[in-house]
Order: sequence, then structure tokens, then C-alpha cells
Amino acid sequence: MSHSNAWSNPSAVSAEDATRMAAFLEGRARCPDQAQVNAALRDVVSGRAGERVLEVGCGSGALCRLISPALRPGGEMVGVDVAPDMIAAARRYAKTDPHLRFDVASAEHLPHDKGAFDAVLAARLMLHVADPAAVVGEMVRVVRPGGRIVLMDWDWETLTVTHPDRGWVTCLTPVCATQS
Ligand SMILES: C[S@@+](CC[C@H](N)C(=O)[O-])C[C@H]1O[C@@H](n2cnc3c(N)ncnc32)[C@H](O)[C@@H]1O
Repeated sequence: MSHSNAWSNPSAVSAEDATRMAAFLEGRARCPDQAQVNAALRDVVSGRAGERVLEVGCGSGALCRLISPALRPGGEMVGVDVAPDMIAAARRYAKTDPHLRFDVASAEHLPHDKGAFDAVLAARLMLHVADPAAVVGEMVRVVRPGGRIVLMDWDWETLTVTHPDRGWVTCLTPVCATQS
């Protein structure tokens, strides 16, 4: 289920808030459990030298930076995000890596040719889009025949919290499932 929230369209928040959201994504990527998830995603994408890989809804670009080294020499990692401020932040975090490119684009209307990529990834995006099937359709269109598509998102309804205050946990978990 998708929920309309600030992540659905960070273009609607102030540039300052978008910068804070990008910093949050960077901080999250540094947490050991999330670093483990991201390393697993990188391994599933399994980019190789010379390949072109696309991340849709790339946010601050943490995953793009993790995947990009495997594509050298000759390859390219492209990240797209609907929010211009998020792409500006991704470019700042990436500094001047020539194998990394960030563009503003909506996942529902990717500006790429059919079969342009060897692999296409969307991580933690589907919860925030109104029409996930349209996004998957675009990912299928821009991946080459025999290429890889990787989709990852949270299942908040299966969240388990270990805390001695069970009343608090009973209140908290439905909120996580509906507001995330
Ligand atoms: C929760 S963040 C995840 C960022 C990154 N994939 C990660 O895992 O760190 C979701 C990102 O998707 C972007 N986004 C939301 N709806 C989008 C859409 N329709 N098209 C492209 N990007 C979108 C948001 O701007 C945000 O940066």
C-alpha cells in the first residue's frame, strides 16, 4: 500500500527540509543494519565492469555510490529522483565521480530508451508511489532483455518491537504500518 507523505514528493517541501531528508537518508545508510541491507542489495544487483545500472527514486544517492565502483571501467551508474533538491543533494554527496550521474525524473515516466540498462533497482520507493504497477512497467521497459530488476521495500505490518511496555508497543506498531 502506498501512503502520501513527504517522501512521495519532496519537491513539495522546502529546500531546507529536503536537505534534511537527504541527510537523514545518509545517516540511515551508515547504520550497521541498513549498511547490511544495502550491501545485500548491491550484491543482488551484481553490477559488473562496463554495465549501466539505474536506481529509480535514488534519494541522496547512497546506494548509487555503493554500486558504482563495480561498474568500472566503462560502466555508468545513473540515479533518478522526482525531487530536484534531492538530486542536488545526491550530486553534492557524490562529489565528482565521472561514473555517477544524477537526473531529475519521475519513476512513472523514465526519460530513458527501451533496454538502456543492464540492471534497474528501486529501493524503499514503492511505499511512496501512487501507482507501483506503472513504475514497475517503466523499469521493465528500460532494462535490456535478460537484464536484472531489483525491488526492495519494507513490510511494516510485520514489524516486531521488543520492549517491556507492551501497551506502548500495541499502540506503536499499527501507527508504523499506516504512516510509514
Ligand atoms: C525513502 S527515499 C529512498 C531513497 C533511496 N532509494 C534509498 O533507499 O536510500 C524515497 C525517494 O523516492 C523519491 N520518489 C518518491 N516518489 C517518486 C517518484 N514518483 N519518482 C521518482 N522518485 C520518487 C523521493 O523523492 C525519495 O528521494
